Amino acid sequence: MSGFNPSWLALREPADHDARDPEIEDLVAGRLGERDNAMVLDLGCGSGSNLRALAPALPDHQFWRLVDHDAALLDAARDRLESWADASERKSGGDLHLQKGEKHIRVAFEQADLRSGVAALLSPTPDLVTAAALFDLVSASWMEGFARDLAACGAPLYAVLTYDGREIWRPGHLLDERILAAFHRHQGRDKGFGPAAGPGSVAALAAAFERAGYAVATADSAWVLGPQQSELIGELAAGIAQAAVETGDLTPEEAQGWAQARGGASRVLVGHQDLFATPPR
Ligand SMILES: C[S@@+](CC[C@H](N)C(=O)[O-])C[C@H]1O[C@@H](n2cnc3c(N)ncnc32)[C@H](O)[C@@H]1O
Repeated sequence: MSGFNPSWLALREPADHDARDPEIEDLVAGRLGERDNAMVLDLGCGSGSNLRALAPALPDHQFWRLVDHDAALLDAARDRLESWADASERKSGGDLHLQKGEKHIRVAFEQADLRSGVAALLSPTPDLVTAAALFDLVSASWMEGFARDLAACGAPLYAVLTYDGREIWRPGHLLDERILAAFHRHQGRDKGFGPAAGPGSVAALAAAFERAGYAVATADSAWVLGPQQSELIGELAAGIAQAAVETGDLTPEEAQGWAQARGGASRVLVGHQDLFATPPR
């Protein structure tokens, strides 16, 4: 297990889907709309949330390659997709054939570690490379290599829900600033890709793709959470507090006190951006 457990991903999925920017998604759908079918490569797929959000906007015949290094998450993705589909068939190699409304979706599950790059995953060239909530984990230099690899085969990138460093909790708390600073320091730790870009990941990703000659569009996809999402708010606060303690910048008592108070927050904004990067035609 990678530390991203299926129950956390399931808890955040409705907020993730609500937050995705519809105009960026329209650009993606428009680019693939001329086709009858599309092959999509989803990096760091977790339990398959990105497919469930995006498939309705793509051509009627789709082939998704879901990639993650965590075998347990790939199993969870298979189960979640079977329950989500109107009809499903499990093929002998483990692929799924799904029907959801008008969409016929073949799904392959690939266990691979992205730390050494994506070049091996780009043949045949996907019609779209996508990833959700992944890029805060990687380094700016990993993104440079990633952009060069995609440019070499001319694949577009649709990156959704990349954390952009904004967190606003209401009502305010005396420790908000120190907690956020500690959380960001923790985010910068190396997750195997070099020092993680964390809150700087949107800017680094956009810059890497612009340098590789892509046209880049971005839009806000923040979570805006309220009391009806109290379970998600509670888990979010607990995770941030734990990360803050691990930096040594706050005592466990300070962080726990903050997390307890945050459980009752009336409004929380967590900043994300969606990005669509298209290569020159
Ligand atoms: C925040 S989760 C997002 C999951 C999913 N995209 C979603 O939106 O629900 C990050 C994902 O990246 C995957 N991941 C992290 N490091 C990885 C690596 N080195 N190689 C492949 N996948 C990785 C994790 O296993 C996890 O599924």
